Amino acid sequence: MSSKTTNANKALWEKGDFTRIAQSMRDSGEALVSGLALTPGLRVLDVGCGDGTTAVPAAQLGAEVLGVDIASNLVAAGNARARKLGLDNLSFQEGDASDLHELDDEQFDLVVSIFGAMFAPRPFDVAKELVRVTRPGGRIVMGNWIPGDPTLVAQILRISSAYSPAPPDGFVSPMTWGVEDNVVERFSTAGVPRESIAFQRDTYTFNYPGSPSELLSEFRTYYGPTMNAFEAASADGREAELQAALDALFNEQNTSDTATSIPATFLRVTVQR
Ligand SMILES: C[S@@+](CC[C@H](N)C(=O)[O-])C[C@H]1O[C@@H](n2cnc3c(N)ncnc32)[C@H](O)[C@@H]1O
Repeated sequence: MSSKTTNANKALWEKGDFTRIAQSMRDSGEALVSGLALTPGLRVLDVGCGDGTTAVPAAQLGAEVLGVDIASNLVAAGNARARKLGLDNLSFQEGDASDLHELDDEQFDLVVSIFGAMFAPRPFDVAKELVRVTRPGGRIVMGNWIPGDPTLVAQILRISSAYSPAPPDGFVSPMTWGVEDNVVERFSTAGVPRESIAFQRDTYTFNYPGSPSELLSEFRTYYGPTMNAFEAASADGREAELQAALDALFNEQNTSDTATSIPATFLRVTVQR
């Protein structure tokens, strides 16, 4: 008999195939990284890196990049991309943002986590770990979706939650990382003074060659949180209702006449260590 306990956080992200969604985020990943003033040899950690939407462009700019992600399929996809692109300054390994025990203290000049660490459990441990592995004088840059924001991802998660079972006791919503007071409290507890934390509203644009409804179909088939919402909705006979709500959302938010381009607002957090 197996005594292995299921890690729901890991299972959620290994479900489906986030690389399919990441395809629509590459342009914004590159744009974000190009604004980080990376220099060759800079030691960069990308936490919750997926298959490398930000890790790959960081390595292409000459940084020494390690991507850490809880999902083994995304780590494998990231390593395959690094090999294919001939980037020997980029590697990916499995790890949990709440407990980066395999990484030494103060090892990185820059720690990036774009819509990654926000999904890990135990946010105070996440802040502590991100601070611990950053060298004094280094930076942490997080991208976090904002609760109640009217743009795409916050709305997908809001609509989906209405169809999903109540989360277990003690569950802290990832969206709390999009609230400045929470971010300050978490990093302050990890020893960072308030004046070392800066906030900015920024935009990620989802670009997809097909229609908005086809992009929704990618989310429905490959994005763990949306897959779970559809499973729960289907068990309640509300699948068509969820489909209609999300289809309206994707189409309303599209700004392209010929394909799909949907801008989504996020909270960019910069911590000076
Ligand atoms: C929305 S995706 C973003 C991926 C990537 N940063 C990007 O911009 O494409 C969230 C990522 O966080 C990862 N993740 C979730 N929980 C995590 C945890 N506890 N530790 C490390 N990574 C985690 C998921 O596996 C997934 O790759």
